[in-house]
Amino acid sequence: MKALVVYSTKTKNTLKLAEALYDTIRYRKELKSITDKPDPEDYGFIAVGFPIKDGKPDPATMEFLPKIRDKEVFLFATHASARDSDLVKNAMKIARELAGKARIIGTFSCQGEVSAEMIEKAAAQSPQPPWLADAPSAKGHPDEKDIAELVHFFNEMTI
Ligand SMILES: Cc1cc2nc3c(=O)[nH]c(=O)nc-3n(C[C@H](O)[C@H](O)[C@H](O)COP(=O)(O)O)c2cc1C
Repeated sequence: MKALVVYSTKTKNTLKLAEALYDTIRYRKELKSITDKPDPEDYGFIAVGFPIKDGKPDPATMEFLPKIRDKEVFLFATHASARDSDLVKNAMKIARELAGKARIIGTFSCQGEVSAEMIEKAAAQSPQPPWLADAPSAKGHPDEKDIAELVHFFNEMTI
């Protein structure tokens, strides 16, 4: 069985998690950007990483998830909002539903820093996006602790 770690990222927060997962997997594996349009049929296990955008997985991931059929899937995400927020829970629910033809074996998410420029842009919007209030606490994430937690969670799950 070959594993795929596929990620969507704009500012590399999700890429950090993807690289850590890739390093953790001990069998045949590939790390690909979602822009490479990997074919899910080529793999037995697929870890899909995405940033949450406007309360949902980002558009490229929304398009990719329904293409996965009968494969084991692990979903991971980064977001500005607090981990236990309804916004994050709802976005992960949307991702699960989109991957409805796959067998989801687990999910993980953590905060991901938003650039000062993007925070400024969001602050100028009316109404302001609901994730803005949590954005200051996302600074510096994903950090070493987030990554260690992801690796531990993944290893526990797949042993
Ligand atoms: C246009 C835009 C929309 C975003 N929407 C959300 C959102 O709805 N919820 C949230 O928690 N974070 C939101 N974020 C924050 C990103 O999800 C977060 O910074 C993420 O870690 C970015 O991942 P990346 O570096 O892999 O691109 C948004 C960021 C941008 C720039």
